[in-house]
Amino acid sequence: MHEVVLRIKRSEPSVSAETRFDEFKVPVEEGMVVLDAVHYVEQNIDPTLGVRWNCKAARCGSCAAEINGRPKLMCKTRVESMGDKITIEPMRAFPVVKDLVTDVSHNFEIARKIPPFTPKKDTPTPFLMQQSDILRSKEFRTCIECFLCQDVCHVIREHNSDYVGPKHVVKIASLDMHPLDGIDRSNFMHSDGGLGYCDITKCCQETCPEDIKITDNAIIPEKERIVDHVYDPLGRLIHRIRGSRWQ
Ligand code: SF4
Ligand code: SF4
Ligand code: FES
Repeated sequence: MHEVVLRIKRSEPSVSAETRFDEFKVPVEEGMVVLDAVHYVEQNIDPTLGVRWNCKAARCGSCAAEINGRPKLMCKTRVESMGDKITIEPMRAFPVVKDLVTDVSHNFEIARKIPPFTPKKDTPTPFLMQQSDILRSKEFRTCIECFLCQDVCHVIREHNSDYVGPKHVVKIASLDMHPLDGIDRSNFMHSDGGLGYCDITKCCQETCPEDIKITDNAIIPEKERIVDHVYDPLGRLIHRIRGSRWQ
């Protein structure tokens, strides 16, 4: 039977500063994904291997890792597409808990800072939602919170800035584009949100396993919104008169 070598980064910072790569030979079966190969190691060779997963169907976002240096979901990556030697490392933008498991809780702290959905006071009832309003933010709701876009973003990885990151811009754009939302998040994005740090490299968009057009449909419109609402005096005036509804 054909075999593949998994080269897995091992560490447990709460116990020791040691970091090493262990190699494991895994027999390849038809249709095998990288998560299957990691499970083979865990079940047959080394039960102490730390790995997080839930659905094995690319729905829960918990098996995110770096495979041959690229941020990917282990359950959505075919073994045969990765060559005979596959290097698997934890996501680099987050602190390691153990082996392939990272602590992504910083994202939940960011999420708590985002001004929540706030219904407009003068909403007519019943309100008829337009299909165009549904379609505008529908793709944002497919986010599985894998945080791969956060992981690949060089601003978060290298500069440790105050930028909330692409996953959270997706969330903010979905709130801002809701026709019943009544608040303006431009100032938050301009200041605490740190959107100015993003230089639109599109790495996040290319990495997203849900094919969300993060840069094109969330980041760029949010940047344009800041220009209109924060910098442009005429835009500011019009925005005040018309309210904060997404235009
Ligand atoms: S486009 Fe912006 S958010 Fe996306 S990876 Fe580049 S800098 Fe980060
Ligand atoms: S936007 Fe895409 S890459 Fe980012 S967390 Fe959501 S699903 Fe993952
Ligand atoms: S195990 Fe749920 S996304 Fe991979």
